[in-house]
Amino acid sequence: MSKILILGATSPIARALAMRFAAEGNAVFLAARDFVEAERLAADIRIRTGAVAIPGVFDAAELYFHATFFEKTIAALGGLDGVILCFGTLGNEAAAQTSPDEAVATVNQNFTGAVSLLTLAARHLEQQRSGFIVVIGSVAGERGRAKNYVYGSAKGALATFAQGLRARMARAGVQVLTVKLGTVDTRMTWGRDSGLVVAPEAAADKIIAAWRRKAEVVYVPWFWRPIMGVVRMIPERIFKRTAF
Ligand SMILES: NC(=O)c1ccc[n+]([C@@H]2O[C@H](COP(=O)([O-])OP(=O)(O)OC[C@H]3O[C@@H](n4cnc5c(N)ncnc54)[C@H](OP(=O)(O)O)[C@@H]3O)[C@@H](O)[C@H]2O)c1
Repeated sequence: MSKILILGATSPIARALAMRFAAEGNAVFLAARDFVEAERLAADIRIRTGAVAIPGVFDAAELYFHATFFEKTIAALGGLDGVILCFGTLGNEAAAQTSPDEAVATVNQNFTGAVSLLTLAARHLEQQRSGFIVVIGSVAGERGRAKNYVYGSAKGALATFAQGLRARMARAGVQVLTVKLGTVDTRMTWGRDSGLVVAPEAAADKIIAAWRRKAEVVYVPWFWRPIMGVVRMIPERIFKRTAF
């Protein structure tokens, strides 16, 4: 049985991951900004699976609270074997492109907060010399687009951070999986109909399959790998004129 911390537990993708890990007898700590919703989710998981499911509260932007939050989580779970980082926000991209405060808030929630929590997780798992970290990123981090470059740059930085962390943690036998998500049907993408949207449950299945085969980077769904391969190759002078 593994003891797993899920950060951003109110995301539908996180919920599906939590349910699947709990169904296999693992203990899950469901950390969210919304404690009431985390409690509700924990109760649902306990009833359906009989596994240990503990609710907790955290905010990615409240960096000063992260170390205490982490210590309390490990105490509540009685150890820690895995961390799944699933929080993120598009923020207000239009406002972020003209307001430094908005831009920094988006970057803090998607990147700085993640760096703080991943550093705490890495220190613990490296000392333990076992475990795993799953970082939910985005294909938006692969190339800066006029439409969403504030969010995208935070996700790009997160992918680079996870890549370096993977290299460091390999020496301690700790798996670091970066998930490059395409469009998933959640609150974040509500109302979008690109034809390439997948359900959060389907995304969770792919993430777990990649985690099981000890993958390092996975595109979910798979077809985003060739799509992004093409997108990355478009010359800058053409790319900047496109609607991407
Ligand atoms: N949906 C997509 O198409 C898509 C594509 C690429 C990547 N992603 C990534 O997938 C992950 C999950 O997103 P989702 O699609 O499931 O969207 P979602 O339903 O909006 O979930 C986002 C989660 O992040 C949490 N969160 C946001 N800001 C936070 C903060 N400051 N502190 C703590 N938690 C915070 C939210 O908590 P609250 O409930 O409190 O708001 C929620 O649990 C995110 O990292 C997102 O960037 C999603």
